[in-house]
Amino acid sequence: MLHKTIEKRLRETVTQVLPEANLNLVQVRPCPDPKFGDYQTTSLMMLAKERKMNPRQLATDVLAKLDLGDLCEKVEIAGAGFLNFRVKTAAFETSLEAANRGEHLFFEKTTQPHTAVIDFSSPNVAKPMHVGHIRSTILGDALARTLRLLGHQVITDNHIGDWGTQFGMLLVGWKNDLNREALAADPIAEMERIYKKVSSQCKEDPGVLEAARLELVQLQQGGVENREIWEEMIKLSQKQFNSIYGRLGIRFDHTLGESFYNPRLQKVVDELMARGIARESEGAKAIFSDGKLPPKEDPFLINRDGEWQPNPALVQKSDGGFNYTTTDLATLQYRTERWHPEAIVYVTDGRQQLHFQQLFGAFQRWHPEVKVKLAHVWFGSILREDGKPFKTRSGETVKLADLLDEAEERALKVVSEKSSELSEAQRKEIARIVGVGAVKYADLLPNRQSDYVFSWDKMLALNGTTAPYLQYAYARIRSIFRKGETGADREAKVLLRAPHELALAKHLMTFGITLEGVAEEYRPNFLCSYLYELADAFTGFYENCPVLKAEPADRASRLVLCELTARVLKQGLEVLGIDVLEQM
Ligand code: ARG
Repeated sequence: MLHKTIEKRLRETVTQVLPEANLNLVQVRPCPDPKFGDYQTTSLMMLAKERKMNPRQLATDVLAKLDLGDLCEKVEIAGAGFLNFRVKTAAFETSLEAANRGEHLFFEKTTQPHTAVIDFSSPNVAKPMHVGHIRSTILGDALARTLRLLGHQVITDNHIGDWGTQFGMLLVGWKNDLNREALAADPIAEMERIYKKVSSQCKEDPGVLEAARLELVQLQQGGVENREIWEEMIKLSQKQFNSIYGRLGIRFDHTLGESFYNPRLQKVVDELMARGIARESEGAKAIFSDGKLPPKEDPFLINRDGEWQPNPALVQKSDGGFNYTTTDLATLQYRTERWHPEAIVYVTDGRQQLHFQQLFGAFQRWHPEVKVKLAHVWFGSILREDGKPFKTRSGETVKLADLLDEAEERALKVVSEKSSELSEAQRKEIARIVGVGAVKYADLLPNRQSDYVFSWDKMLALNGTTAPYLQYAYARIRSIFRKGETGADREAKVLLRAPHELALAKHLMTFGITLEGVAEEYRPNFLCSYLYELADAFTGFYENCPVLKAEPADRASRLVLCELTARVLKQGLEVLGIDVLEQM
């Protein structure tokens, strides 16, 4: 990759000038303003600052020794001491020719592969998967795919909620009120019905509450009947999860739910107590602040009316039951022991921020010897067009399966209007890919930390920042090849003479930097925007530069530009979990 080659040479030169400098800090990035160059480095300013040197002087010294004559037309010192690189068109052409021969696709595998565990989706048993799980599922999958593409080892683990107090109520309902026929027809709906019923009875009738408690104790102590019912509930739920994952094209390496860690929980609490990390508090056991962090950064303190007060994390209730934090501590320990990952990434909504801050803080105190990067990749809510939380008209949470059905139905309408000549089976298959793709892209496009408004019309539009627009751009390129009854010649010379050709080529070149940004910051929205801009750059090129009707040399070169754009679109959408179509 060109910017990597420039970066490599820059690093070699920096070592000559500053032999002790940390070269990982020396980076080359696209120039924010193309007026000044194609690439830029601001790293020299940082190095100069660290050493109290004059940054422009350092830039001058480095530039004097830097040899980029073969790649760059011009390297300039600018501003307070950054370098701008203007790349020779010939260097872009060579890089595109290599890509066309299949030598690269504008990205490189990492030279420092690491193992990352990604905990995502993680729905709860006996409840329908709802829109709240969409973002986690889609985001987590896109991150897993991106990291894998870049050469990291990824372990995906679906931490399903298959244990906890809700099973007491479910068991009461299952034993007294289960409708077997309804269960056979729609197991989740029936389990949800009995759960809701018993849970509201519990609020009014202490007798039912007590019955639920007893059922739960029976389950926890390994009572055979309750155990069997519980297993059946999990099996039925897993079937529903699997059908959704199948539709979304998502798979997990492991599904180690909360129940898996159950046998380990008492030991976790005992150790935390013995080490003084947790202590008794009003009959329960909880982790308190150790006073080592500034209060502002301490997740175990909370500011109330200007005063810092304890904000403990419960690990064992007074009745002996365990908490979400306890399970997560056991899970974290298990993962570090089993897989020795460099990173563990949790994808959940933003309301769990405090939980993860406490979890990470507590784990570091418990296992200071374990070196692992812990990341909570959180996201905001999905809103209706009126700005309210995304619910059905009757106020229920929207079920994921219904949402996907509707996406496909709506996509079928769009496809049928546009391509009435296709058979129904073809249109349905296109609608499936377009519908699911539209939902995924709409979910990945916004900055994940902001709420976004769910709009069918916007996400299915054939124009704009949508999956259908990108899928259409891809299919349009394939149709050029069909029409020309040709492919791109592997040995073709690439000529970047028209401004739109050069602009498209430069955009292709930044695919790898974009992927790296996604992997570093866990933000697939960078790639969503990149692909949209790529499709736009392609449109600009296609409207201004004839392809099939061009002179032979231009025609061959432009077919390569078409081919490479198609490959990058396809690869880029694939890491977002979105399929493409040869024809739409
Ligand atoms: N089951 C939880 C929920 O639905 C998400 C679990 C996330 N993962 C974890 N290790 N806590 O909110």
